[in-house]
Amino acid sequence: MGTLFEGKVAVVTGAGRGIGREEALLLASEGASVVVNDLGGSADGASDSEAAVVGAAQVVVNEIVAAGGTAAANTDDISSWSGAESLIDQAVQTYGGLDVVINNAGILRDRMSFNMSEEDWDSVMAVHLKGHFSVARHAAAYWKQRSKTTGEPVGAAIVNTASESGLYGNAGQVNYAAAKAAIASLTIVMARECERMGVRVNAIAPVARTRLTEAIAGDYMLPDESGFDRFSPDNVAAVTCWLASDLAQGISGQVIKVQGGQIQLLEGWRPLVEITDDKTWTLDSVAARREELFPTAADGVVPPFFFGPPPANRERYPQMDVG
Ligand SMILES: NC(=O)c1ccc[n+]([C@@H]2O[C@H](COP(=O)([O-])OP(=O)(O)OC[C@H]3O[C@@H](n4cnc5c(N)ncnc54)[C@H](O)[C@@H]3O)[C@@H](O)[C@H]2O)c1
Repeated sequence: MGTLFEGKVAVVTGAGRGIGREEALLLASEGASVVVNDLGGSADGASDSEAAVVGAAQVVVNEIVAAGGTAAANTDDISSWSGAESLIDQAVQTYGGLDVVINNAGILRDRMSFNMSEEDWDSVMAVHLKGHFSVARHAAAYWKQRSKTTGEPVGAAIVNTASESGLYGNAGQVNYAAAKAAIASLTIVMARECERMGVRVNAIAPVARTRLTEAIAGDYMLPDESGFDRFSPDNVAAVTCWLASDLAQGISGQVIKVQGGQIQLLEGWRPLVEITDDKTWTLDSVAARREELFPTAADGVVPPFFFGPPPANRERYPQMDVG
């Protein structure tokens, strides 16, 4: 057992399997008391049968306890305001405080925009965007009160889970991508809002082999001959937990991609090209500047794409073609 999180209390949402499970195990192995949240639903969030509910979170708690750690199961639905509140309350009441929140729970309902149903949209927005915000909001309210009472910064951290899908715009995931891009925004805003009370807020954009990606990534994510299982979810957990720890003091409002042996610091929206004029724009004056506003790959400006560029752009951006 390590001591990095000794005396700290952590909440990990969706920690019954996949990336969240590894995050909960690592936090506990470093001394944190962990509330393992998972409602045990199916990959599209459709089912939450009692058997599944008892299973997912409790199995991880049993693993932690068997390894000598401290953990409690929570089966609240974090997509509900009251579920998120009850999760934070459980951490505070059971372990006497809260220091780390890892927002990880997620589902997929992939469809092209023109085939997407209202329910597909609402359920993904609810679990990812509302779920992230609700848990973070109740945690932040607790920390605000604590810092008011003690007059000291609380030294806490939130790590959210974004996705390259949202940052780069993966076709077929308009609901998920919109929620994940919003989570990156939410991270930056809450980092600014919570700085004075000593709460750091960052996000990861992970890539790992879990049930969410097994179906779409196929052989691409299987271990290679080198012996390094680069898509194993435990590659992600170390980065998340490092961000949540005191080792990452001073780092807030950042989005970090992690995929196996690669970590990237990502940059958000920023001006890429600027054109100016000293009189009112007209349709003609905008049209006349089109080439200046949209430089081609020859100018060295290459936008990123999730799993390579869409087919229509492969010729234009050959260096991004991953096959
Ligand atoms: N696997 C990847 O490559 C990848 C890539 C980008 C982002 N992500 C994100 O990482 C996170 C973890 O995904 P994963 O790949 O480990 O998936 P996973 O399906 O293995 O785990 C997600 C867990 O969240 C739980 N969950 C879903 N809705 C919930 C709710 N309302 N309340 C409580 N728990 C709930 C599920 O029961 C499940 O155990 C997600 O936010 C996902 O979008 C994953």
